[in-house]
Amino acid sequence: MSNSDLKQMQTLAALGVTSAAQVKSLFGELRAQFDAQTAKASDEDLWKALRDGWLGRKSGVLTLVTDNWLKPSSPELKRAVGASLNELRTHVNAHIEARRVAIEAGTEMAAAAKERVDLSLPGVIRPIGSHHLIREVFQEIEDIFFSIGFSVVEGPEIETPYYNFEALNIPEHHPVRDDMDTFYLDVPKGEPGLLLRTHTSPVQIHTMERRDPPVRVIVPGKVYRRDNPDATHSFMFHQIEGLAVDCDITFCDFTGTIDYFVKQFFGEGVKTRFRPSYFPFTEPSVEFDASCVFCGGSGTARTGGTCGKCKGAGWIELFGAGMVDPTVYGFVNYHPAKVSGFAFGIGIDRLAMLKYGIDDIQVFFQNDVRFLEQFP
Ligand code: DAH
Repeated sequence: MSNSDLKQMQTLAALGVTSAAQVKSLFGELRAQFDAQTAKASDEDLWKALRDGWLGRKSGVLTLVTDNWLKPSSPELKRAVGASLNELRTHVNAHIEARRVAIEAGTEMAAAAKERVDLSLPGVIRPIGSHHLIREVFQEIEDIFFSIGFSVVEGPEIETPYYNFEALNIPEHHPVRDDMDTFYLDVPKGEPGLLLRTHTSPVQIHTMERRDPPVRVIVPGKVYRRDNPDATHSFMFHQIEGLAVDCDITFCDFTGTIDYFVKQFFGEGVKTRFRPSYFPFTEPSVEFDASCVFCGGSGTARTGGTCGKCKGAGWIELFGAGMVDPTVYGFVNYHPAKVSGFAFGIGIDRLAMLKYGIDDIQVFFQNDVRFLEQFP
């Protein structure tokens, strides 16, 4: 059908329309065409074509109907044509607007559907962290000493030789410094030397400088030595220092306290013993042992044969300790004749290895989750 065949391009006379009834049916046809096209206008582009096709000023259907049907119509039909045209115009206007609203809402819904949060999707599961085993062992040990009246103090990891050595009765050239071959910091010439502390013992001095007796403290922290890494050595490891000083502390208080701690930590069945040892800042000095936690002190492995952990001795070395050497009191202005006390230095990594059956200290520092997650 060419454009000029369209009925709205011709006059009513040309179409042979002479009665009001014919006018009505003609408008009915047009309206049916409009409704069919409107139903198909499903997106914005189709809707614009619909709007221009029907309402366009120059050649929209309504304009053509006005020009070709209404204006040239015979006076008898004019009324009927006018009324039908008005009716059609209202219908077209209303439906084109309704269509626009529907299309817009549809686009919004589509956009909303795209952005909708799908609550059924599994979320991102973030693994929950836990304390490192070393941190947990620190806590266990701290709790045991809290229960008998000790409190926690901390000290610097960078020390002066005075605190790390001299005030602990380790003068320069003393052979025990060889065991503590350590990391010195580069300092400008003429400035006092600095080093990474080799033990937590310097905090004994800091504490006694600041407080009068009685003192009952433990000192958790990191220490550094120039050791080559192997299964039992690391250039950084952890200690808890202990110090108790008062006017009447005896050797019995000392061994009783250590025995209490060891039993709390490893279990009531574990026995302790001490052997003479040497530390410049304690006199007498001892080394504490516990009955082997692997073979129950028998020296024989559960599977028969010699226990590999204590090498058949039935005892395992735990840590060094002793009664504070009176010389140390001289460095902190305590009266050596009026006070007495004991000190100890526990290697945390070693104790954790013994308690949890770990045979390589390096696993503490490698951050391998397969190891870490075994101790949630
Ligand atoms: N500071 C010593 C070390 O790291 C350990 C130690 C031994 C500390 C005896 C003490 C002690 O307080 O009394 O090897």
